[in-house]
Amino acid sequence: MPENYKKAITSEIFEYITKASKLLGLESYVIGGFVRDFLLKRDSGAKDIDIVTVGSGIELAKHVANLLPNKPEVQVFKTYGTAMLRYKEVEVEFVGARKESYARESRNPIVIEGTLQDDQNRRDFTINAMALSLNEGSFGDLLDPFNGMEDLANGIIKTPLDPDITYSDDPLRMMRAIRFATQLNFTIEENSLNAITKNADRIDIITRERIVDELHKILLSAKPSIGFKLLEKTHLLGRFLPELTALKGVEEEKGQSHKDNFYHTLQVVDNISEKTENLWLRWTALLHDIGKAPTKRFDKKIGWTFHGHEFVGSKMVYKLFKRLKMPLNEKMKYVQKLVLLSSRPVILAEDVTDSAVRRLIFDAGEDIEDLMTHCEADITTQNAKKRKQYLNNFRMVREKIADVEERDQVRNFQPPITGELIMKTFNLKPCRQIGTLKEAIKEAILEGEIKNDYEEAYQFMLKKAKEIGM
Ligand code: CTP
Repeated sequence: MPENYKKAITSEIFEYITKASKLLGLESYVIGGFVRDFLLKRDSGAKDIDIVTVGSGIELAKHVANLLPNKPEVQVFKTYGTAMLRYKEVEVEFVGARKESYARESRNPIVIEGTLQDDQNRRDFTINAMALSLNEGSFGDLLDPFNGMEDLANGIIKTPLDPDITYSDDPLRMMRAIRFATQLNFTIEENSLNAITKNADRIDIITRERIVDELHKILLSAKPSIGFKLLEKTHLLGRFLPELTALKGVEEEKGQSHKDNFYHTLQVVDNISEKTENLWLRWTALLHDIGKAPTKRFDKKIGWTFHGHEFVGSKMVYKLFKRLKMPLNEKMKYVQKLVLLSSRPVILAEDVTDSAVRRLIFDAGEDIEDLMTHCEADITTQNAKKRKQYLNNFRMVREKIADVEERDQVRNFQPPITGELIMKTFNLKPCRQIGTLKEAIKEAILEGEIKNDYEEAYQFMLKKAKEIGM
């Protein structure tokens, strides 16, 4: 007797699907992530339900829509033989059961109709191949031909078929295996891991967008390092993020070695993930040291240096985002800016002057707290005493920031003297001197020579103008 999980499918959408299936004389099942997450008692936040029917998924979707009181629109994807409708925030996907074979150079399958078992065979993992019956008489029965339940209980990612076939059929699944291993803290079964390593170069046929989608899910997991270690181990990582694999390894010269910046980076990403859900701050942590590979030098006097790596790294961010077809908008600029500024609070911690703090607030603007969060995550020393000391230093920097900010308000710096006022005062047409004066006023404020207010700035402007012979 199969286990019954009626309690998983109490939503009325399932009743409509059962009704429509009966009308069409079709067998239908709910399959995939919905079943997996129910059995894991996991709220994945994902809002989709996958329905497989032995027949036409498109026909079934249309019938279901027709029975539903609000008659939702059905989106049909003819090439894939699938259809989708929205029911109360949930996307319900319909697909006809199929046997599939894939063209070698693309992910697009050649679709042949099949049985439920054929369909389960061609799914990615045993834990994603479990189905619940939506048919009268067997409503709620679990169909689990590959013992996905056991793999769920043991935390195993395993393919229903020979993993070589499953991954080669659809190489995106290599990323999915690693993503699920990270999200669920599961282990990828050894044969699967070997097959991923063997097929790693096939990831090149997958669009950058889909790879990035999976990367985001890995980065948004509780412990992203699990995923990045697996991506590295299977040789996938270097195919789309060579900047990261270039950070691997430790070199030694004249008895001096530097830390392995790859593993350091992963630790930073894990640390920051305990503090923030902000995807782009997590990206910052991931990329904060990428400038270290191209700038690494050994200097006889001072040892290993990575001079200017923050600047080089922030330039690399643009190329990396562009190559991965990620947005080249304010998100990218945010990551660039934080990478560029990533060492500034560290320098500050050694010598906290008002003017240096003011400059940092001016440069970081609204992102100053995120920058501090990053810097705290960047502490990966195993030495408890040092760690405490660094954290303490940053606490002082934070206090100083709050203090200076309250007094001087330079976070969203607006020059107290406008260019127009300068022109009016000195009876000038637009010219270079206006910029010179404005810059001098800004510098004087940041250096703490004058307060960030109109009166002091005005007097300073008159004095400065005299000095430069205006
Ligand atoms: N699937 C597959 N191969 C893929 C993608 C999906 O075999 N490359 C199958 C799996 O059975 C999966 C189902 O299609 O469970 C639905 O896929 P999708 O909605 O992308 O993922 P979920 O498993 O639902 O999980 P998540 O929402 O977390 O991505």
